[in-house]
Amino acid sequence: MKDLAYLNKFFYKYRWRLVPGVLFVVISNIFGVLPAQVIRVAFDLVTENIGVYQLFSGFNRQEMIYDIFGSSLLLFGILVLILALLRGLFLFFMRQTIILMSRHIEYDLKNEIYAHYQVLSLAFYRRHNTGDLMNRVTEDVSRVRMYLGPGIMYTINTVVLFVLVIYAMLTVNVRLAIFSVLPLPVLAVIIFYVNTVIETRSEKIQQRLSALSSFVQENFSGIRVIRSYVRESFVRDRFAAESEDYKEQSMALAKVQAVFFPSMLLLIGLSNVITMYIGGVEVMKGNITPGNIAEFIVYLNMLAFPVISLGWVTSLIQRAAASQKRINEFLHQEPEIISPIAPLHTVAGKIAFNNVTFNYPDTGITALKDVSFTVNPGEMLAVIGRTGSGKSTIANLIMRMYDVTEGQIAIDDKAIDGLNLNNYRSQIGFVPQEVFLFSDKISHNIAFSADVLDMPAVEQAAKDAAVYGNIMELEQGFDTLIGERGVTLSGGQKQRVSIARAIVKQPQVLIFDDCLSAVDTRTEEEILSNLGRIMHGKTSIIIAHRISTIKNADNILVLDDGRIIEQGTHANLMELKGAYFELYEKQLLEEQEEA
Ligand SMILES: Nc1ncnc2c1ncn2[C@@H]1O[C@H](COP(=O)(O)OP(=O)(O)OP(=O)(O)O)[C@@H](O)[C@H]1O
Ligand SMILES: [Mg+2]
Repeated sequence: MKDLAYLNKFFYKYRWRLVPGVLFVVISNIFGVLPAQVIRVAFDLVTENIGVYQLFSGFNRQEMIYDIFGSSLLLFGILVLILALLRGLFLFFMRQTIILMSRHIEYDLKNEIYAHYQVLSLAFYRRHNTGDLMNRVTEDVSRVRMYLGPGIMYTINTVVLFVLVIYAMLTVNVRLAIFSVLPLPVLAVIIFYVNTVIETRSEKIQQRLSALSSFVQENFSGIRVIRSYVRESFVRDRFAAESEDYKEQSMALAKVQAVFFPSMLLLIGLSNVITMYIGGVEVMKGNITPGNIAEFIVYLNMLAFPVISLGWVTSLIQRAAASQKRINEFLHQEPEIISPIAPLHTVAGKIAFNNVTFNYPDTGITALKDVSFTVNPGEMLAVIGRTGSGKSTIANLIMRMYDVTEGQIAIDDKAIDGLNLNNYRSQIGFVPQEVFLFSDKISHNIAFSADVLDMPAVEQAAKDAAVYGNIMELEQGFDTLIGERGVTLSGGQKQRVSIARAIVKQPQVLIFDDCLSAVDTRTEEEILSNLGRIMHGKTSIIIAHRISTIKNADNILVLDDGRIIEQGTHANLMELKGAYFELYEKQLLEEQEEA
């Protein structure tokens, strides 16, 4: 319950829906209780008048009595109808206020969680899988909404109705009231327990279903691998096994549900029987009228639904509390990378690492050890080294995806964590190692950093990234959809589209993380010479595996196991005859073998 307190701020925000909502619940219940009393009066009228009517048998007064009797019964009928209509009207208002409020809060809560996700760091995204992140914005929020809407509405409804009905019953006859509501608490307890069983079984079904759908999804995405390894029948058998599991869980649920409703009806029926028996005894004693029995039967049936909803609402609130707890866990997570309130700064392009050591927070792997280097505006820095040597880590740190463990990074001689983060990042063009394109038009993918689409700039960027020709060959050119529902680009084409995305920003600093790996040497040369023109006077950092990519750089870092082992220009490093030289020889040899 403590977790649900988080939502109170929303009740305050929407108080002008909640307060009238509660009022409408009360009013609709009053109109719900009144018909029972009208029915009692009508019932008594009938029993009394039948006697009078028979008394006048043979007189012509009898006709008149019949008429008066008939029209007053009609009047009661109309009255009951009007009361029912009024009740319906207020029920409508009640839903319009409370359920609508819950929808508004649901929307606010989703936005709040999503906005919070956006500020959380990469380390957070590594710790939690996508399914979990999605579940908390969708599944958990909708459970919480069940508490906010139906949960609150039915609770208020039950309380109000109980007070009104029990009060009305007690004023008629205490003994009868006690006996007829006696089975109801039993009903509530049974419903609560059965509901818990139903919920846990439904939960299991839900889990099986999501296991089944992620199994199917993965197999559809991996269909090429399945075909080429001839694993179709194996996959089919596993699917059948998963489905079987799902079926068994569903049948288990159906069994409980099958027992649930009949036993509910049995208990309500039992209450009715008791009421009629005790009521009959009381009528014979002359304590109550037959109309009171009719009134009681109506009351009892009015109580049945609130009693059922009581058990239901209790388990619903329990579930909502568990979901809100999960949501709070994320909402209370502080972002690890915080942007200071700093004036905007135009980046000139000087980047300095001073004795930087970096451990990845979640794995504890030390990816960089005591790394120092400086790049000046207008220079091109290259980073080369074995896989896993820490190259991408350098790029991540420049982007401030993480903060350093030891040492400092300075941008234009200012500490990186003193810069306004969004302003700083927006001036850097970063092409990550893992190309990611959105399922959208090519033009939108390239112009991703801009709010408005500037077609000439997009086309120029595509030309500079040497992908313009490929795009124009596609039937719809820049409007071609890529990804899931569109065209599949080749690995090299994707890399170049993501290069264009970085270039179009006209960044002050450009970082290429191994994004020329799938491009042939001729195209690579073309791109690099374009870069020379675009990045004139600006800073570029090229991470690569091939020496041919980087030999014109102003400075080359050779990384090994997180340390810089050699540093200098191509000529310097060749003279050194160390690791760089060895690598050069090896790559030269490979090229000759290929040729
Ligand atoms: N997000 C991460 N969380 C934890 N450890 C990581 C993460 N990214 C990389 N590492 C680890 O840090 C080390 C350096 O990785 P990095 O990605 O910087 O290597 P790299 O030089 O870019 O390699 P490659 O040439 O294969 O791209 C590796 O041991 C890797 O396992
Ligand atoms: Mg890398």
